[in-house]
Amino acid sequence: LSDAVVIGASGGIGSAFVELLASRPGIGALLALARSPLGHGGHKVRTGTIDVTDEASVADAAARAERELADLRLVIVATGMLRGPGMPQPEKSWRHITPETLLELYRVNAVGPALVAKHFVPLLPRQGRVVFAALSARVGSIGDNSLGGWHGYRASKAALNMLIRNIAIELGRKNDEAVVVGLHPGTVDTELSRPFQGGVPESRLLAPRESASRLLATLDRLGGADSGGLFAHDGARLPY
Ligand SMILES: NC(=O)c1ccc[n+]([C@@H]2O[C@H](COP(=O)([O-])OP(=O)(O)OC[C@H]3O[C@@H](n4cnc5c(N)ncnc54)[C@H](OP(=O)(O)O)[C@@H]3O)[C@@H](O)[C@H]2O)c1
Repeated sequence: LSDAVVIGASGGIGSAFVELLASRPGIGALLALARSPLGHGGHKVRTGTIDVTDEASVADAAARAERELADLRLVIVATGMLRGPGMPQPEKSWRHITPETLLELYRVNAVGPALVAKHFVPLLPRQGRVVFAALSARVGSIGDNSLGGWHGYRASKAALNMLIRNIAIELGRKNDEAVVVGLHPGTVDTELSRPFQGGVPESRLLAPRESASRLLATLDRLGGADSGGLFAHDGARLPY
């Protein structure tokens, strides 16, 4: 049995990860962390709090994982933000760019997962397969960007993609079976995407459980040679 941590466990996709991982026979204990308390855990699941933009909070959560989990081999970061606080929609034009919004999106989408990596990656064993995965987004791919718009979200996810690649290289030197990847969950029916689902055909909108289940199946197929990549819910490797 091995243990897992899900960060952003209150989110649409994060909570689906918690449910699915808790039902996996190979998982011993699961630490589900969210910004606000989640209430009681349940079978295998322990709950706790984390604010990924506050390094002391991330360090406390990692110290707890170190104390309570015997064999941590999977860390999933499912936090994220699409538009700045109080913004009705993401910036469509450069006219809508504000320093406050750009910095807030960087803080949550890029700095947050980087702090989680700083404090949780050292807890992963140096031998055997270990996985650190962060929810990114296809729109963070520079190579794939033909539509423009969503300045802060795209730029902050592109920064996250670079951090993931960097962390993969650094960890790969210590453990060649380590898998450090970004994940694109598809367009998923959650609070984050709800205001923008109008233009998405129903057949393309995934339920959070379906997306999380596909992402776990994708992770199961990845090995050390895939580390540093960005992978979609259907298993495809996306360009950076
Ligand atoms: N839904 C989609 O179509 C879609 C598409 C591509 C990529 N993604 C990515 O998938 C990930 C999950 O998104 P989702 O759709 O599940 O959205 P969601 O339901 O809004 O979940 C986002 C989660 O992030 C948490 N969070 C935000 N700031 C945080 C902070 N400072 N510290 C700790 N937690 C924080 C939220 O916690 P609170 O509940 O405390 O706010 C929430 O649990 C995100 O990275 C998103 O960019 C989603």
